[in-house]
Amino acid sequence: MASFLSRTNRRTDGYGGSREGRVRLPLEVIEAVRARVGDDYALGARFLGDEVIEGGTRIDDAAWYGARFADAGLDFLSVSKGGKFDDAKQPRVGHAVYPYTGPSGHECMPTVRIDAAGPFGRNVDLAAHVRATVRAAGHETPIVTAGGICTFDQAEAILQRGDADFIGSARQALADPDWFAKMRTGHGSAIRRCVFTNYCEGLDQMHKQVTCKLWDKQFDPQAPGTALSWDGRRRLVAPDWTPGPA
Ligand SMILES: Cc1cc2nc3c(=O)[nH]c(=O)nc-3n(C[C@H](O)[C@H](O)[C@H](O)COP(=O)(O)O)c2cc1C
Ligand code: SF4
Repeated sequence: MASFLSRTNRRTDGYGGSREGRVRLPLEVIEAVRARVGDDYALGARFLGDEVIEGGTRIDDAAWYGARFADAGLDFLSVSKGGKFDDAKQPRVGHAVYPYTGPSGHECMPTVRIDAAGPFGRNVDLAAHVRATVRAAGHETPIVTAGGICTFDQAEAILQRGDADFIGSARQALADPDWFAKMRTGHGSAIRRCVFTNYCEGLDQMHKQVTCKLWDKQFDPQAPGTALSWDGRRRLVAPDWTPGPA
């Protein structure tokens, strides 16, 4: 679907070229899915605020798409960035191309090495722009932002500023699925903070079960009752956490 929305989509059959042409298939899909699931089912979409490829879609197009998706009745919009196949590295023989290996992929799932600003909240401005455009079009559709959000203060500030309505978290929630429960119950010092070096992404790239390197670091993977990955070398699930006194 992202390929249809892309500014690089030059199809001449009515499903490319202009903004209206590029958004046509996604709108038809939304209509068809809504017809199947009904009005009492939450239906949303994730799309790119910036493709981060040469000649690709930028925020002005993305914000316009957001307003059209809201017109079409989506219940939430989640704004991501990059992660395109177009600039991905050539894979090794016998391996599939992986979308997080080129510059657009590095923006999608940034590590601590990306630049001096680091991976933190790099997509918030995109979500804020989409949100403002959707609001100007008369819709209250909730906007989700994600990307390098890993502390309560950071998340709360985004919500307070009105840059987004929901906070999405992939790697911090993987590193510590209990991070918000810990925060809420006064156990913030027990949170395993993601170190944003993408060990998890490396496993995903190799089609291995995705685990977090922090799970093994602090706990004995050989302890009885610990679920292990297929190769028996890693913990398969995060260590249990039971709230004690704060
Ligand atoms: C192992 C892994 C796999 C991912 N796969 C997808 C995917 O299939 N589709 C997608 O939109 N984002 C995918 N993402 C990207 C995340 O949804 C998220 O946008 C990105 O990691 C930045 O957020 P974070 O800093 O909270 O991790 C993946 C992330 C990780 C860590
Ligand atoms: S392996 Fe764990 S610590 Fe490393 S980036 Fe992934 S979630 Fe974060």
